[in-house]
Amino acid sequence: MAAEFVDVMAVDDLPENKTMIVEAGSKRVLLANDEGEIRALSPYCTHDGGDLDGEEVDDHEVICHRHGARFDVRDGSVTRMPAVFGLSTFKTKVENGRILVAV
Ligand code: FES
Repeated sequence: MAAEFVDVMAVDDLPENKTMIVEAGSKRVLLANDEGEIRALSPYCTHDGGDLDGEEVDDHEVICHRHGARFDVRDGSVTRMPAVFGLSTFKTKVENGRILVAV
């Protein structure tokens, strides 16, 4: 089944260089404002399930506060241990000031 874009929130409500977990249809996704580009990823750290809500985005990376793993928000890849596996990513777009995520 093709992914469907779901309206999740106003782009103005996601501060630059911050993350937020939102509901997108039946899924929870992590939104990241990456220097004005909106990214969407799976919301839990692959190391030990840390919740990535409200984290800082620093130089395109989100940092898990639990043990310091880092992920590139552009493609979900791991950039620092202890995580080994990357995060899933979802397509996003912004229309009329709203963030839409393909789930
Ligand atoms: S749960 Fe994220 S680094 Fe351990």
